[in-house]
Amino acid sequence: MKKDPKFFRPTWVEINHRNLRSNFLELKKQIAPGVSILAVVKANAYGHGLVPVSRTLSRLGAKFLGVTSLEESLALKSAQIKTPSLILGNIYPFSNLSVAIKNGVRVTAASVESALQCEKAARRLGEKVYVHAKIDTGMNRIGVNIKGAVPFIEKIKSLKSVVLEGIYTHFASSYEDPDFTGNQILHFTDLLENLRARGIHIPFVHDANSGGIFRYPHAHFSLVRPGISLYGVLPVTVPKQINLKPVLSWKSRIIFLKNVPAGMPVSYSGTFKTKRPSVIATAAFGYADGFRRSFSNKAEVLVQGQRVPVAGRVTMDMTMLDVTDVPRVQVGDEVVIIGTQGKENIPVQNLAGWAGTSPYEIFCGISARVPRMDLHS
Ligand SMILES: Cc1ncc(COP(=O)(O)O)c(C=O)c1O
Repeated sequence: MKKDPKFFRPTWVEINHRNLRSNFLELKKQIAPGVSILAVVKANAYGHGLVPVSRTLSRLGAKFLGVTSLEESLALKSAQIKTPSLILGNIYPFSNLSVAIKNGVRVTAASVESALQCEKAARRLGEKVYVHAKIDTGMNRIGVNIKGAVPFIEKIKSLKSVVLEGIYTHFASSYEDPDFTGNQILHFTDLLENLRARGIHIPFVHDANSGGIFRYPHAHFSLVRPGISLYGVLPVTVPKQINLKPVLSWKSRIIFLKNVPAGMPVSYSGTFKTKRPSVIATAAFGYADGFRRSFSNKAEVLVQGQRVPVAGRVTMDMTMLDVTDVPRVQVGDEVVIIGTQGKENIPVQNLAGWAGTSPYEIFCGISARVPRMDLHS
């Protein structure tokens, strides 16, 4: 058995920083030389580990890091990562603003009210606040609707302590609906022209998430915001040949083996019954690690380079596997939940399919108790 790394319970995630780097460079190839990258590292870098991932992306030249919360911005700052972070959500409560400003965090102004609160907080501190104005072109989540966008931007420009560093919108269907996305781009482009005609120039203009980067090159503007593609996944096929590599592998080990006669139930409520004399392995992961209960009797994992089925209900900390067809199975064998073993591979998309969800949710669902190991070579 291979020596396990610095943790005791054998369930862990490996983050391949070489592949992360390769994805970043692949994304750079898709954009014009003058276009910058805001790397979306929110939600613990989609479960990949905020600080190590951000450090790699910062070294590669990401212009900004897109986060969810002030907590994430402060974690980056404590880790001495110099690339500025932008909180992509609406800052709330506004009392958070003073902490954001003191730490040089870029904030989203998603309403006139939030812009005014930015001005108030910055003035009180005698500092400037750098904001990116959020325009809603169809997502109906946060931001000022296109109709009110010109007065909103003019208002921000009139505020003495607010620096309007960016303006952005977000695609609602860049992976699915070209007509809807085309309309969003049209509204946003019209707005930019309108602002230009009024002599308003904003340094960073952005709207493209991963889908936008690959499908709508005319809408890259001066900054793009990839998330899932950095982590090696595209939720749909794109018209070009793109070489993205998976960054995250999720692994565990077999901790118990049992011979079970035919006709016996396995795990809670006996939803799996052995059809033959079987070898049932218990592995050290469960739904508290993010391996969902809905994977029960559905998902497969890799053992000794073979796909093996989950047998019965996934439990909180352990999952049973039918390893009857794995000839030399042993306690201590590595189990691959996401990733490659021998010639076999289980991509995150397989788990998303079994759970009826997206790769985003599978990644973000890998719980905090699963240690992340960073592999740099
Ligand atoms: C505002 C914003 N921009 C960019 C992204 C990145 O999107 P993707 O992961 O599809 O590239 C997200 C992700 O949810 C987002 O909320």
